[in-house]
Amino acid sequence: MTWESPGVVSLDLVAADGSALPAWEPGAHIDLHLAGAPVRQYSLCGDPARRDTWRVAVREVPGGRVSGLVHKALRPGALIEAEGPRNNFLFVAAPRYLFIAGGIGITPILPMLRAARLAGAQAMLLFCARSAADAPFLAEAREFAEVVTHCADDGTRLDVAARLATPEADTLVYCCGPERLMNAVEQATAAWPEGSVRFEWFTPRSRPEGEGADAFEVVCAQSGLTLKVAPGVSVLQALREAGLDRPSSCEQGVCGTCECRVLEGEVDHRDSILSASERAANDVMMTCVSRAKGARLVLDI
Ligand code: FES
Repeated sequence: MTWESPGVVSLDLVAADGSALPAWEPGAHIDLHLAGAPVRQYSLCGDPARRDTWRVAVREVPGGRVSGLVHKALRPGALIEAEGPRNNFLFVAAPRYLFIAGGIGITPILPMLRAARLAGAQAMLLFCARSAADAPFLAEAREFAEVVTHCADDGTRLDVAARLATPEADTLVYCCGPERLMNAVEQATAAWPEGSVRFEWFTPRSRPEGEGADAFEVVCAQSGLTLKVAPGVSVLQALREAGLDRPSSCEQGVCGTCECRVLEGEVDHRDSILSASERAANDVMMTCVSRAKGARLVLDI
C-alpha cells in the first residue's frame, strides 16, 4: 500500500499462490470484493507488462463503504478477492493523444500514457485537480508525457470549451474524471469526429428526473422464455427471477459485466459505457439499467 496523494492509496495486488496474473491492456479494470461491502470496480493503473502484480488506487470517498474499508481496515498481507480484468475503455493506436484526467480519473489513463510513449505517439495530459499536491501519480505521468496541470487552487482551471473548440487532426481524446468535467468535455467535443473522444465513467451519469420506467416484455431467444419487466424492476432482476443465471457486478451501468446481445426491439440505453454510435447500432444492452423503448425486446439469452 502506498499513499499517492491526500486521500488516495494505491494497492499492489499479487496472486495468493504467487502465480502470474491474467494479462490486461490499458483502460482495463478489476472488481474488488471486500467482505461485507458491495463489489466495486477499480482501474488497473500499473505497468501492463508486469504479470506479477496488479496496481489499483482507491480514493477515500466520504461515506464510501469500500473505500472506507480499504483506507481504514485493509493492511498489507490481507487476502482479498479480485475478479477480471475487463476493459470498456480500449486504448486504440493513434499518432496523437490528448488525455484529460480529473483527480483519481488519472488511473485508467496512466497505463495509456506509458503505452503511448512505447508506441512513439505524441501525448499530452491535461490533469485537473484541486492542487498539484492533490493530483495522484503526477510525477509518474510526467515520465511518459507532457503534462499540463489545471488546478482550482492556483487559478489555472481548465477552460474546456476553449481548449477543445477546434477538432485536432489524427488525435484521440481519452477522458476520465468527475461528471462535471466529463460533461464539459462531451459538450466541447460535439463537433469532433465520431469515435475520436472516449470516456470512462467511474460512477453512473446522472439521469433525467422523472425518467419513465414502463413495463415491457423480454423474449429470451435461446431459452425460449418470455417474461414481463415491471416498472422499477431491471431486465437483469427479471431474468434472475425467471431462473436465469446472469452475471453482474456494478449494477449501475458502468462496468459492462451484464452486457447482452439484442436481437430485436429498440433499447432505451441508460448505461455510462456505450458510445453514441454503439447505442445507435442497438446491438447490445446493459441489462442492469437499460430498458425498452417499445413494448418488446428479444435478447440473445
Ligand atoms: S452490472 Fe455493471 S454494467 Fe451492468
